[in-house]
Amino acid sequence: MQKNKVFIETYGCQMNAADTELVYGILQNFNYEIVKEAASADVVLLNTCSIRENAEQRIYGRLGNFKTMKNEKPGLIVGVLGCMAERLRTDLIEEKKIVDIVVGPDEYRRLPELIDIAFNGGKGIGVKLSRTETYDDIIPYREDGLQAWISVTRGCDKFCSFCVVPFTRGRERSRELNSILNEIKLLSERGFREITLLGQNVNSYSDNGSDFADLLDACAVVDNKIRIRFTTSHPRDLSDKLLYTIARHQNICNYIHLPVQSGSDRILELMNRSYNIEHYLKIIEKAREIIPGVSFSTDIISGFPTETEEDHEMTINIMKSIRYDGAYMFKYSPREGTKSFKMLDDVTETIKSRRLQEIIDIQQKISFEKNQELIGKEEIVLVEGLSKKSDLFFAGRTDTNKVVIFPFDSKIKEGSYVKVIINRASSGTLFGAKKVESSKLKVES
Ligand code: 5AD
Ligand code: SF4
Repeated sequence: MQKNKVFIETYGCQMNAADTELVYGILQNFNYEIVKEAASADVVLLNTCSIRENAEQRIYGRLGNFKTMKNEKPGLIVGVLGCMAERLRTDLIEEKKIVDIVVGPDEYRRLPELIDIAFNGGKGIGVKLSRTETYDDIIPYREDGLQAWISVTRGCDKFCSFCVVPFTRGRERSRELNSILNEIKLLSERGFREITLLGQNVNSYSDNGSDFADLLDACAVVDNKIRIRFTTSHPRDLSDKLLYTIARHQNICNYIHLPVQSGSDRILELMNRSYNIEHYLKIIEKAREIIPGVSFSTDIISGFPTETEEDHEMTINIMKSIRYDGAYMFKYSPREGTKSFKMLDDVTETIKSRRLQEIIDIQQKISFEKNQELIGKEEIVLVEGLSKKSDLFFAGRTDTNKVVIFPFDSKIKEGSYVKVIINRASSGTLFGAKKVESSKLKVES
């Protein structure tokens, strides 16, 4: 039987990238062939993101392209997966009549059936959210490489007032610890060197009495040549036990993504973030005490309803006092169905843009200065391959997730760890010279 060809275009967060591999895994079990471009596919699926308005607008634009493609290639099936499927099902199918399939994050197992419905001229719709689906038994499709993502929790129960995720991805649930370990074993056998454990709030992981620190602990010992990363941590749930676990294992990266969202307690309260700045700073202090050399990144929203210049200054102050290694910064975007959608979006576009630019500039300066401080220091780098810009250089990453460029050396293989002395730095990249291969995965302090 001839195989149907499927292509998935992925938008949004790493969870979506991991889900795309999961969907490919499901479809491969049903005799689908994965292709690398939409033009050669019989089924094109867009794995979508609803986190901000501009993400959705971009995807609507892309759907317009596929509508044209369908005119030229009747029979082409176009589908929407992910968060937009959950949020905009009627709009996509009934009103705009753009797509044949709409499938939310908890119904991917039904895709083969829903695609069949579409091939027979119907509409394939699956948008129920589940309290239990974790896709534990599905092996995601992954190309060979060094880096892999594994979702350890799905959904979110935090209900931050600005966030659509609890509505599009449903209630929080955890995957079985053993199924995660088995997946890491398979990746280890295939030579993977870095695994990122994913969840909207990984710290609330819970399986049969094991918490997230237990999970990390167990993942770290599967293969001590595999670096373990994780994201995202919520400041409310980050435990001391977790910090000690990171410190204890030389293959758990000294890097914590800990979104602060705002430096103002008043705004944090309106955001329903359930911590204040004092608590947040205590975690940072504790982490620095327990894990010397730990680095932090964050998410910040600019222009949340009622945000004043004073609140904005508080955000700047927190950035300056913590000195993050990196930050993802966004303009507030009202999302229908969330609590803050009912609040007046009263910070004008001009002010939002100006405040966003201010914090971007500040972060850039801090990143640059922090990288300058690394000149003369030794970093342990996982060699990822040749640098994109030149075959004369290798590119790799430190455990704090910084890109390092250093001279090519035919004796060094991709996937090995090397000590590199940093001799130059920009705000985004470190440059250095190799010393020797390293049996350690992070710098000892
Ligand atoms: N507007 C702007 N940014 C948002 N985020 C989530 N929802 C919104 C929104 N409505 C940001 C938060 C979150 C990150 C993933 O996206 O900072 O941590
Ligand atoms: Fe959204 Fe808050 Fe959950 Fe993150 S923790 S996914 S921001 S509701």
